[in-house]
Amino acid sequence: MSDVGRTKECHKYARVQSLKGKASENLIVCAFQSWKYERLEAVARFVSMAKGIKDSMGKSIQNKTWLGSAGSAAYDFRSDTMTTPTGSMLAAIASCSLQDDVFQEDDTTNDLEAYCAAITGKESALFVLSGTMGNQLGLRALLTQPPHSVLCDHRSHIVTSEAGGLAVLTSAMVSPVTPRNGLYLTLADVEANFKPEGRVIDCPTKVISLENTHYGVITPLDEVRKISAFARSRGVKMHCDGAPTVGGMRRLASHDIFGKQLAAGFGSRASVTAAGRVAIEETFGKGPNGEGGLLRHSHATAKKVEAMWREIGGTTKFPVDTNVVWLDLKAAGISMARLNQIGKEEGLLLMGDRLVVHYQIYQNAEDTLGRLRRALERAWGERGRGVPAGADANASIYCT
Ligand SMILES: Cc1ncc(COP(=O)(O)O)c(C=O)c1O
Repeated sequence: MSDVGRTKECHKYARVQSLKGKASENLIVCAFQSWKYERLEAVARFVSMAKGIKDSMGKSIQNKTWLGSAGSAAYDFRSDTMTTPTGSMLAAIASCSLQDDVFQEDDTTNDLEAYCAAITGKESALFVLSGTMGNQLGLRALLTQPPHSVLCDHRSHIVTSEAGGLAVLTSAMVSPVTPRNGLYLTLADVEANFKPEGRVIDCPTKVISLENTHYGVITPLDEVRKISAFARSRGVKMHCDGAPTVGGMRRLASHDIFGKQLAAGFGSRASVTAAGRVAIEETFGKGPNGEGGLLRHSHATAKKVEAMWREIGGTTKFPVDTNVVWLDLKAAGISMARLNQIGKEEGLLLMGDRLVVHYQIYQNAEDTLGRLRRALERAWGERGRGVPAGADANASIYCT
């Protein structure tokens, strides 16, 4: 049975059970999804623990994390960081090793790192708690002696959204580059902005940092290879912020030092790494092209959202390569504030011109995309009718 079919079945069953007063509907849905992973014992524990948890959809609830695909993220297009753990992740946490990680004795964490190293073809891997931490640790390990600089896209998360950590932790300058194609950095961009060794006053480029995907747009592998070959020829290092995709990192001695300084290790890290392992397997699936993984479905659902918006008459600002749909609200003459408001009235959480599709939207697509269509049609219908035509339409949630 497909995930969507399974979710529907679960909802049907759960409704009957909750009417009988056995447990809250969402909990039974969550339990059923965990069942798939044959961890019945843990699931039974969840169900008995979580009886009485109330429903979601904007109302305050005691514990959002238990709700799996039925959680409020099903109506949340603001970011894929809004997703909640699946039942199988919670089950994995309940049966993880819980040993000390600072001594590197935690089997669940060690296994996850070995697994990530294997699937990414690296010597080793280091689990970090967040994308920001991964970026800062990675860059700090590569940048050892100022004056030095990092060449990257001007919109990079490391420049715009990490609280100046790069400056503070590495003392590096940034060479922020605007890609000529408007989408991603190319070798030509890198060559034109590279600062060679020799003139200290320039802060030589020591790291070329890519972000892939960037705004949901893929930098083609071929382009990455060209930039990487150039970096090698100049003796500089490459960093890739793969936070939107999930990155594997090498466990270098220097990572260990800075990792300790930034507290990347802590006792019983398995409570997070156990869920991380399930997340990777469920997200990427087993096949070489993501077969059986949820990510493919999120991408396909994003394509449906794009098609819906185009059918209504809209255009997008960037190609929909992955799970992000950038609505061109300026061209449409719709203000972000008004769209957010209409979204709210339709029971959705929107954040301006960026719609991020994730697994919980896919699993509830029938309901959620119906609401989204109504919201987009309403906003479109209001164009030029008292809507402050693009009051904030020149803006974007990011610097595009
Ligand atoms: C490209 C990119 N890098 C890094 C991050 C930071 O990840 P975290 O929020 O886990 O620190 C994000 C978060 O959305 C991101 O989109």
